[in-house]
Amino acid sequence: MPVIHPRKQTIDVRKFGAEIVITNAYLIYKDEELKQKAIDEGIHKLINFNGPVMTDSGSFQLSIYGDVDINNEEVIEFQELIKTDIGTSLDIPTAPYVTREKAENDLKITLERAKEAVKYKEENNINMLLNSVVQGSTFSDLRSCCAEELSKLNADLYPIGAVVPLMENYRYRDLVDVVTSSISHLPNDVPRHLMGAGHPMVFALAVAMGCDLFDSAAYILYAEDDRFLTIRGTYKLENLQEMPCSCEVCNKYTPDDLKAMEKKERAKLIAEHNLRVSFAELRVIRQAIIDGNLMELVEERCRVHPMLLDACRQLGKYADDLEVYDPRIKKSAFFYTGPESLNRAEVVRHLDKLRNMDKKRDLIILPSSRKPYSKYVSDNLGDFYIYGSEMKLDLKNTDFMVLDVPFCLIPLNIDEVYPLSQNESPKIKDADSLEFIEDFLSEFIEYYEQTLISSKVIEELNIGLYNIHSQSDEIKFIKKDEEKIKSIADYQFGNGVGNALFKGKLKIEKSKKTGKIRHVYSDGELIANMRASDAFFVLAKEGARRLHEKMEFPENRVIVNKDSEPFAREGKSVFSKFVIDCDTNIRANDEVLIVNENDELLAFGKSLLNYAEIMDFNVGQAIKTRKGF
Ligand code: GUN
Ligand code: ZN
Repeated sequence: MPVIHPRKQTIDVRKFGAEIVITNAYLIYKDEELKQKAIDEGIHKLINFNGPVMTDSGSFQLSIYGDVDINNEEVIEFQELIKTDIGTSLDIPTAPYVTREKAENDLKITLERAKEAVKYKEENNINMLLNSVVQGSTFSDLRSCCAEELSKLNADLYPIGAVVPLMENYRYRDLVDVVTSSISHLPNDVPRHLMGAGHPMVFALAVAMGCDLFDSAAYILYAEDDRFLTIRGTYKLENLQEMPCSCEVCNKYTPDDLKAMEKKERAKLIAEHNLRVSFAELRVIRQAIIDGNLMELVEERCRVHPMLLDACRQLGKYADDLEVYDPRIKKSAFFYTGPESLNRAEVVRHLDKLRNMDKKRDLIILPSSRKPYSKYVSDNLGDFYIYGSEMKLDLKNTDFMVLDVPFCLIPLNIDEVYPLSQNESPKIKDADSLEFIEDFLSEFIEYYEQTLISSKVIEELNIGLYNIHSQSDEIKFIKKDEEKIKSIADYQFGNGVGNALFKGKLKIEKSKKTGKIRHVYSDGELIANMRASDAFFVLAKEGARRLHEKMEFPENRVIVNKDSEPFAREGKSVFSKFVIDCDTNIRANDEVLIVNENDELLAFGKSLLNYAEIMDFNVGQAIKTRKGF
C-alpha cells in the first residue's frame, strides 16, 4: 500500500500496480479544508483513488511529536464518517529498547483503545474494517501477549507497529524477533500488515515471517532525497554512474539527465522508479511462493547486507514455527545457498523423521555423491570400518544410509522421496554444514549397536569423529522393492504404515520407460500410486481404508461436521468451515483422511493448508478430495 499524501500527492500509484492505498486520517482531520471535503465527498474522492483505502489514525505522529489533538473515539468516528474502508485505532507506537515498565504501560492503553474501537464498531453496526495494531516494543513476550489479546477481538487486520525505527537503524535481527513473536500469536485467517515497511530489500524476509501487507511512504520520501530503492539496497543519485534498473525511468534517463533536472520533476521520476522496483519485488515473491522456493529467495536477498544476513540467521531460530507453514511436497528442488539453509523446514523435518525412525540394530553409512543415491552406491563401495567393538553384521537388520549435505543421513530405501533426491548443494562442503552433520551424527548413532562407515565417506567428507578400529568385508547394498515401498510409506505417514498398507500378495508395477515404481497392488487391489516427481504415495481407495485402520484417531485425519458428510462421500472438496478438528501434523499438500466425528471414513484427499490454517479459516477449500466412500 503506497502512502498517499492527502495534499501533496502528484503520482497516480494505480499506474504502478497499487490496488490498495493508505493515507492519514489525522492529517486530513487537522486540515479544515481537507476535512470538509473528506466529509462531503468521502476519502476516495479526496485522494482520487477508487479502490480500497486504509487510513492511519495519527499514531505515527504521536510517536514523533509525543502528542496529537484527537482521541481514540474521535478518530474512529472520523474515519467512519469519511468512508474509510479500513480504519485504525489510536495505538501507541512504543519505541524499541524502552524500559519494560514503559512498554507495559503503553501496551495497556493500546489494548484498551483497540477494544474500544471494536466495541464502537459493533455497537454502531458500521461496515468499516478495523486494524488492531500489535505493540510491545522489543519485548518478545509483550508482543506475543498483545497479539494474543488482540486475537480475541476478531479484528479485520493485524498490523505490527513501531518497527520503523528498527528498520531505519538496520536492526533487522530484532525485527525478526518482534515480528515472529507477534505473528506466532495471531490467527491465520486475518492479514498481517508490517507498518511502515517500504524498502523492497526486506519484503521477502517479511513475507517469510508471515506478513501479508506493507505500507510506506519510502518511495516518495527517498525520491525527494535523490535516493533509489533497489533490492540490493539504496543508491544515491550523486554516486550513480549507471542507472540502477531497467524500468522506464532508468531506461530513458541517465544519472546526468536527472541531475540536470529541476528537483520536483526529478523526485517524481525517482519515485516512479521506486514504485516500479517495489511492485516488481512483490511479484517475484508471489511467484517464489507458487514455486515453493521463497526461502531460497530470502537467503539470496538477505545477502545484500550483513545485518540482513544476521536477520536471516535469526529466523533460523524459529525453524520449528516456520516448518508448520511449509508444504511437505513442492514442485521445485531444494537449493542449498549456504549454512542458513540448514534451518529450512525440509531439513528440520527430515532430521525429526530420522530421530523417530524405528531404529534397527546396525547402521552402515555409504558414500555416494550422485542421486538417486541407491542407484550409485552398490558400484562404489569401499572398505568398512567398525565403530564400537566386535563386528557382527546381520544385513536384514541394518539401515543403509548415505551421508549428505544438508540432510545429514539419507536412508537408501527412501532416497527418491522429495526433497532427498530433489536438491542441489555444492560439491565442496562448507565447514558449517560439516559441523552440523557431525553434531547430528554423534547424536543419532547412539541408537545403533554398530555403525559402520565406509572409508570413502570419511575421506570425502573429512569427518573425524569416529573411533575406528577394525576393517570389514565388502558389503553389497541390496535394494528390495518391497522394503522400499514400506520404508517410503513409513516416512510419509508414520512408522508401521508400510506393513499395514502393503500386506498380502504384492504386485509392484514399474514404468517401462524409467524403471520407477508406479503402482502397488495387494491381493489384486490397487493400494497406491507413486508420484514420479517426488516418490510420495497417492492413495487409492483401499490404501485409504488400510491407512484409516492402521492410524489411530485423529492421526492423519480431518474431521468434518454432519452437514459436510454427504458432500465428502460424493468426492466433493472439503471447505475449512466444515472442519471440526484435524491432526496437528497435517501440512499443505499431505495426503489425508476425511472422517466424521465417529471416525467413519468418508473420503480421502490432498490438504491445501496446514492444520492451523484449516482450523482458523472460515472460507475456502481445505482439502481437495480424491475419492469418497
Ligand atoms: N505507522 C508506522 N508505525 C506505526 C504504528 O506503530 N502505529 C500506527 N498506527 N501507524 C504506524
Ligand atoms: Zn529504475
